[in-house]
Amino acid sequence: YVLEKYKVIRKQFGNIQPSDIDYFKTILSEDRVLTDENDVLPFNIDWIKNCRGQSKLVLKPKSTEEVSRIMRYCNEKRLAVCPQGGNTGLVGGSVPVFDEIVLSFMLMNKIISLDELSGALVCETGCVLENLDSYVRERNLIMPLDLGAKGSCHIGGNVSTNAGGLRLLRYGNLHGSVLGVEAVKADGTVIDCLKTLKKDNTGYHLKHLFIGSEGTLGVVTKVAIHCPALPKAVSLGFFGVENFEIVLRLYASAKSSLGEILSAFEMADNDSISSTVQNLKLPNPISDYPFYVLVETSGSDETHDAEKLTRFLDKEMESGLIIDGTVTSEPAKMQTIWNLRESIAGAGLIDGYVFKYDVSIPLANYYSLVPLLRQKLGSKAIKVYGYGHVGDGNIHINVTVPKYDQEVCSMLEPYIFEEVAKLNGSISAEHGVGFRKPHYIHYSKDVTAIHLMKQLKQLMDPNHILNPYKVLPELT
Ligand code: FAD
Ligand code: MLT
Ligand code: ZN
Repeated sequence: YVLEKYKVIRKQFGNIQPSDIDYFKTILSEDRVLTDENDVLPFNIDWIKNCRGQSKLVLKPKSTEEVSRIMRYCNEKRLAVCPQGGNTGLVGGSVPVFDEIVLSFMLMNKIISLDELSGALVCETGCVLENLDSYVRERNLIMPLDLGAKGSCHIGGNVSTNAGGLRLLRYGNLHGSVLGVEAVKADGTVIDCLKTLKKDNTGYHLKHLFIGSEGTLGVVTKVAIHCPALPKAVSLGFFGVENFEIVLRLYASAKSSLGEILSAFEMADNDSISSTVQNLKLPNPISDYPFYVLVETSGSDETHDAEKLTRFLDKEMESGLIIDGTVTSEPAKMQTIWNLRESIAGAGLIDGYVFKYDVSIPLANYYSLVPLLRQKLGSKAIKVYGYGHVGDGNIHINVTVPKYDQEVCSMLEPYIFEEVAKLNGSISAEHGVGFRKPHYIHYSKDVTAIHLMKQLKQLMDPNHILNPYKVLPELT
């Protein structure tokens, strides 16, 4: 009952009995209560294969009522629960640690309503983001978020992690675009905050408790979200530049030249792209450069918007900031470029094991940790690379090694978190705290804030059955 790697001890939760399984079979049909080792295994392993739980039971509810009955029972019996969406989370939050029951939302995937005029979409928690996006696109709207995991992640997982992604710069984060949620508390109470209003200042905004709390305060069962209008014209530029200083100068220039049509400003260093090209055999549409910048515009006038981006490219090639680049409005070409960027997340897995860090750092020092880490690790790492959402001050730093190595881990942690704190950054920009970072949360949160979080947890889930060992450091 002790996980060596993370020094975690199983808490005094109930052990699952055959009578519990029988009870769950009375709530759910038999095929939605998984106990076979092979069936349960995929729910125990996270996307980057950093964490592996030991659950023996997966429940697949189809309705809020079923979730509520499951939670009420688990609370009474002190059975711990790990809510799981698409299992694409990158901090080990979505998989059990010991034998927590996995509550999977894959069958709660119905779209409930769409108001095409206001853009308010209401759906169940397990809808896959890409499916929702396809649905609303046919009705001239888009989802306000997009991320590389869109083909698997659920909207409820997105809400529970306050996922950021590739267009946060344009559409803001989910605390802004989520209009309402329905959630089930640890004791089974259904909290109905599923409003579709843009304005509703009637008391405390409880929906925010569930946005970004990673399944520790409640289970999100339905989501109401605002979908912006489908942009009529989208263009994408992919540029090669000499150094990081130039990335920042280009960002300033893009903001002033492209103004309201700028919808993404992303960067990747040479090792990020070369790892994707080498490991995943994806094509790079331009040559090899120290840094790459991806600029997307989304607007309403095809000719005008594409011209604006091409003018930006011409101007900055003339100024010498951009060495080489391509601009396109062709969907297939744009897809190739986005695919190259989005695949960086998984490319390093081919090397063996990836230490992933997702930090916010004020832009002046945004890239500074990458060369420091390369120097510190030397030949101990296969690759150290940085990429991310420059427009949001969020860099992803990946360190790849042939296999998990405790010495490398000790060289990285807490060093990275200390450096990020010194630079006034955040140790988790968008992926959350999950299982991997609770004991580092103090680098980004004051003791008084952590204390209030613990009080909230105590109020919402007094038996601590919801996603234990995650987000908050030791609760006692
Ligand atoms: P899961 O991984 O299943 O769960 C994540 C957390 O939410 C867990 O703590 C889980 O317990 C909890 N949870 C899930 N569903 C519920 C629910 N209904 N109620 C309560 N708690 C719940 N993240 C970003 O922010 N930006 C990115 O750009 C981004 N890109 C990614 C690219 C790739 C290729 C991959 C693999 C991941 C990426 N991620 C990104 C991380 C991840 O996809 C997001 O965190 C996503 O929002 C997780 O959704 P999910 O449905 O897979 O949730
Ligand atoms: C991304 O921006 O690609 C994601 O957040 C995933 C990652 O950090 O690898
Ligand atoms: Zn990201």
